[in-house]
Amino acid sequence: MVETLRNHIDGPWEEAADGGRFEVVNPATGEVIATAPDSKAPDVERAIDAARRAFDEGMWWPGTPERERGRILLRAAEIVHRESERLARMEALDSGKPIAEARDDIAEVAYCFEYYGGWATKIRGDVPPVGPEALSIVVKEPVGVAAGITPWNYPLLQAAQKVAAALAAGCTFVLKPPEQTPLTCLELPKILEEAGLPPGVLNVVTGFGETAGAPLVASPKVDKVSFTGSKEVGQIIMRSAADTLKRVTLELGGKSPNIVFADADFAAAVEGSCNGVFWNQGEICSAGSRVFVERRIYDDALAAMAEHARKVRLGDPLEEATTMGPLVSREQRDRVERYIAIGMEEARLAAQGERPTDPRLSGGYFVPPTIFADATNDLTIAREEIFGPVMTVIPFTEVEEVVRLANDNEYGLAAAIWTRDITKAITVARALRVGTVWINGTQAAPVEAPWGGYKRSGIGRELGEAGLEDFLETKHVYVELGG
Ligand code: NAI
Ligand code: MG
Repeated sequence: MVETLRNHIDGPWEEAADGGRFEVVNPATGEVIATAPDSKAPDVERAIDAARRAFDEGMWWPGTPERERGRILLRAAEIVHRESERLARMEALDSGKPIAEARDDIAEVAYCFEYYGGWATKIRGDVPPVGPEALSIVVKEPVGVAAGITPWNYPLLQAAQKVAAALAAGCTFVLKPPEQTPLTCLELPKILEEAGLPPGVLNVVTGFGETAGAPLVASPKVDKVSFTGSKEVGQIIMRSAADTLKRVTLELGGKSPNIVFADADFAAAVEGSCNGVFWNQGEICSAGSRVFVERRIYDDALAAMAEHARKVRLGDPLEEATTMGPLVSREQRDRVERYIAIGMEEARLAAQGERPTDPRLSGGYFVPPTIFADATNDLTIAREEIFGPVMTVIPFTEVEEVVRLANDNEYGLAAAIWTRDITKAITVARALRVGTVWINGTQAAPVEAPWGGYKRSGIGRELGEAGLEDFLETKHVYVELGG
């Protein structure tokens, strides 16, 4: 059955004004599962106007008592829990991620609402000392109408991180979900309005980047854009936002180093290094796709990683035994296959997993886990973000050498370090120019802690208190007390 999705603007569910629709595909089979509105500037404009009214007129949302705002978010967390299996299945079907990983994502979505629901009553200002003749009061206020433009790798989670923080801060919101995976994002307004959110506070408009995303960024009525996606589109958004001096938060890509020292717990380091680039089909902004291995254990580690890659079970994302699904789209599959072809020229293919054999999946966008070995840091497959299950392994000898190589990349999102030597771990962690460092682990992004990139991996932070700050303005009220 092909589902007919609709935009959510100021409460009701609507078509695009020109009636345009695009197809949403199950990447495991290539079959069309839904159609969604191909929204254009006039649709986006109406969503912005709704968010503007909900912010400005009577200050519906920013004027709602903090405890009521918080309660709505806490109720939303409960509704996500109640609907979690349905949402996880929808996410796996739409994005191609294995159902077990989709369940973890949805649990995080619920916690996002719980966490920021708690924050709604705890946003506070300051009273800096300015002498006896005056009183300075610093208050935090919502930045206004916020727009979220989000990608397909963690469709509902990427949206929920932005929406939960923004609503807790008192902003109203327009969300433009990814064109590849709009299904779960369109569940958000249902969940929040059941939880008591007034209409117009959260609006969702589906469509493509250039036609539905760009007008959001250009609009003088939008105060802030929070974007997650490619570096290239991040640059376009920043340029466009300059015209209206909008606030921007950018969560972009990465080519994160994963450093395995010879003194690491070998089994944990091998398993973690593989998971860091094979989980979610490698479609992770912080994927540990540049794997540096100390020469003393290089051959053994490579053999163990190759063994891991061959054991990955590609298959139907909805089957429990599947550990890797298809890539999200034909375009992404083609892009990753182009990088694999480049890798074949530049480096040595050390391992490649098996494609699924099930004939039902013959039209799916599967790419087996692939390991390239004996690479150097200057190769294309070591420099550019591939965003697929492709690992590039590079040997090293010295600590200083690996720090220099790890930092020699335009991105700076995350890094993982595997060692039993705590001093070495901390020293290297401090020397890396990245936003997140994992020591003896990989890919943890707890809702309570800040997340974001150094260098060309982005600007600003999401999650934690920092994620809330990005949706707040600071106002200083100065009261003269002197005669
Ligand atoms: P993209 O950056 O084009 O898309 C992300 C979002 O931006 C989507 O909602 C899209 O509709 C929107 N968008 C695209 N062009 C826009 C524009 N001109 N103005 C406003 N919004 C626009 O990413 P895409 O094409 O899906 O993937 C390409 C590559 O980007 C991937 O292979 C990967 O390397 C990287 N990527 C990184 C992600 C991350 O989490 N950092 C997530 C998705 C992709
Ligand atoms: Mg794109």
